[in-house]
Amino acid sequence: MKRLEGRVAIITGSGQGIGKAIALGMAREGAAVVIAEIGEANGLQVKSDVEGLGGKASAIPTDVSREDSVNAMVEQSIKEFGRVDILVNNAGIYPVSPIEEMAEELWDRVIGTNLTGTFLCSKAVVPAFLKQRAGRIINIASGRALQGAVEGAHYAASKAGIIGFTKALALEVAPYGVTVNAICPGVTDTAQPRGHRTEEELYAMAAKIPLGRIGQTEDLVGPAIFLASDAARFVTGQMVIVNGGAIMW
Ligand SMILES: NC(=O)c1ccc[n+]([C@@H]2O[C@H](COP(=O)([O-])OP(=O)(O)OC[C@H]3O[C@@H](n4cnc5c(N)ncnc54)[C@H](O)[C@@H]3O)[C@@H](O)[C@H]2O)c1
Repeated sequence: MKRLEGRVAIITGSGQGIGKAIALGMAREGAAVVIAEIGEANGLQVKSDVEGLGGKASAIPTDVSREDSVNAMVEQSIKEFGRVDILVNNAGIYPVSPIEEMAEELWDRVIGTNLTGTFLCSKAVVPAFLKQRAGRIINIASGRALQGAVEGAHYAASKAGIIGFTKALALEVAPYGVTVNAICPGVTDTAQPRGHRTEEELYAMAAKIPLGRIGQTEDLVGPAIFLASDAARFVTGQMVIVNGGAIMW
């Protein structure tokens, strides 16, 4: 029995990296997936990958930082698939900058995408979740929310904000049977860390991780499917830290 049979899952930023792995993983578990991605070509490629697995997918060009774009995406998802059951707030950016050079525009862009994007997408699905008295929201935060990040004050603040948002929303929607949780990945091999880390730096980070390597996108798939599945029905307001033991809380 597939664990997400008959469910509809929106995964933001799923044109590549962690979001793509989660979209493919949820599709393998029987979910129809919405690829809500700003990069149109990548979104279409993932849609065709899902269809290649025999799954159902829709690629909807979306900018999570814009309310009109988010609302149109959720409306179209419901129109195409009849319902939404799962939202994975995964879209995120991490353009590093020392604080003294950090333009307010850059700060706003990071908060706008990572934190406001999570708020806007959640706000857009919550009415349907409350009505059906069921729904799962999974927010991709980061170990940086807990540990800090040199040249990443905007990013760490956005991800710490996501953790506070997760707990507040979990409290608010719990009476309706809706759960809200966060996943905090450690460093994971995608375009994001490779945008600001050399190969040597990634090797050096891996050497300090108890399980002996940095994460691969597939490492996040099991935890996301668990939180979306019936097995996690009594789990809400939690952080699931997936980092090979890099930090232990
Ligand atoms: N890779 C890591 O080491 C790591 C660690 C901790 C947390 N994370 C978080 O995991 C998530 C996925 O990261 P990744 O490593 O796969 O990065 P990535 O850069 O490979 O993928 C991010 C995706 O989000 C999309 N995106 C960016 N802005 C968007 C917007 N406004 N609207 C819609 N889509 C948008 C991008 O086009 C891209 O497809 C992010 O939230 C990231 O902060 C990553």
